[in-house]
Amino acid sequence: MTYQNYSLKQLQQIDAAHHLHPFTDHKELREAGARVITHANGPFIYDSEGTELLDGMAGLWCVSIGYGRDELAEAAYAQMKELPYYNSFFKCSTPTPVLLSKKLAEIAPRNVNQVFYGSSGSEANDTALRLVRHYWVLEGKPEKNRVISRKMAYHGSTIAGTSLGGMDAMHKQLNGAVPNIVHVMMPYAYELALPGESDHDFGLRAAKSVEDAILEAGADKVAAFIGEPVMGAGGVKIPPASYWPEVQRICRKYDVLLMLDEVITGYGRTGEWFAAQTFDIEADTITTAKALTSGYQPLSALLVGDRIASTLVEKGGEFNHGYTYSGHPVACAVALKNLEIIEQEGLIDRVRNDTGPYFAKALQERIAVHDLVGEVRSIGLMGAIEIVKDKATKERFLPAGSAAVKVRDHAIANGMMLRATGDTMILSPPLIWTRDTIDMACERIGKALDLAQADLRTR
Ligand SMILES: Cc1ncc(COP(=O)(O)O)c(C=O)c1O
Repeated sequence: MTYQNYSLKQLQQIDAAHHLHPFTDHKELREAGARVITHANGPFIYDSEGTELLDGMAGLWCVSIGYGRDELAEAAYAQMKELPYYNSFFKCSTPTPVLLSKKLAEIAPRNVNQVFYGSSGSEANDTALRLVRHYWVLEGKPEKNRVISRKMAYHGSTIAGTSLGGMDAMHKQLNGAVPNIVHVMMPYAYELALPGESDHDFGLRAAKSVEDAILEAGADKVAAFIGEPVMGAGGVKIPPASYWPEVQRICRKYDVLLMLDEVITGYGRTGEWFAAQTFDIEADTITTAKALTSGYQPLSALLVGDRIASTLVEKGGEFNHGYTYSGHPVACAVALKNLEIIEQEGLIDRVRNDTGPYFAKALQERIAVHDLVGEVRSIGLMGAIEIVKDKATKERFLPAGSAAVKVRDHAIANGMMLRATGDTMILSPPLIWTRDTIDMACERIGKALDLAQADLRTR
């Protein structure tokens, strides 16, 4: 079947008739018609009308090695011909998840040596939640089952993912979350630091909210703390340097497990394989997905620390959990090739030593100076631009989020795909971006800001 036989209008009509999209107001979408992306190459995506867009979001934080990589298509094809599928249940395995697990143990932090596979970040977080609760049952402390998370955290869209996450709009539609999960403040200095409070002190105060929640529940009731090293979908919120060491100290003090969600930050985005290494965090579980295959196949890997893995193996009996596609041979073959390319092309070193610092400087020098911008921040190749009405007071435009949507729409119209979340523009480009691509992005974003400002002035 080929889509070329269909006009854009026809595809939009069929889409509207039959396709329910994620995180979408369907009435609005059906009135406007979906933009249909038909092909992509390197850092660019193209829609059905041939419009070229520089992809500032790497798809959805995932296409790290860029589009159109024959090597990944060939790895999938070869594996599909040899063994398209077999499961990892019933004491069976297939070669590619075995080899991928070895590779992941090599690149993960030292205390992490085991892997549990799924097909999405949400599934992996569901596994993580089950695993930490099961761990404490095996350790004879079944009452230690509460999890502390943070407001505005995003941990996926299944019921467990939504419950772990701290997005109010998602919780409202849950109408009954998984019990015993509480949400504390996020480490977001731009909006939450008190007047005159240093970044350092703010980071300690945000970490203290974790300790307060542990003390309120009683340490003997708290299983784990979960956090994204850098909050992604919540607006690329980069914690102050004081935050993670203090959270780690608190978790150790009260014997609370530390669960990291690296679905966005994993596989090079912050300039190390994992943000756990960037921030020097020792985690008991690390949730990963997305860039593990650069999005070419759906695959998640929950990396499990030695503490939990030893208990599971030694005291466990059967762990009654798993997915048909856990350790899918094709997805794992693609992941192996993807990691090989990331290594061979030195993409992580490049982010750490070249493109990451260049990206930070470009945002500071060319974007932060704009009248509409209250703050820019970045780490590796992950960045945020705060849209404000008044730089000095941080006052926002009303209604909330409307100005950022304007910037986004102008950016897209000017060949730049980026995302607005609340009043924050977010960027998470492929790791293959070069200095030239960063220059191109800044020019297009600058233009979008100018056009949005002109609209907002005449409003
Ligand atoms: C930090 C984080 N965790 C979990 C998820 C959920 O992953 P998925 O959409 O693959 O289920 C996401 C998705 O964006 C994420 O950003």
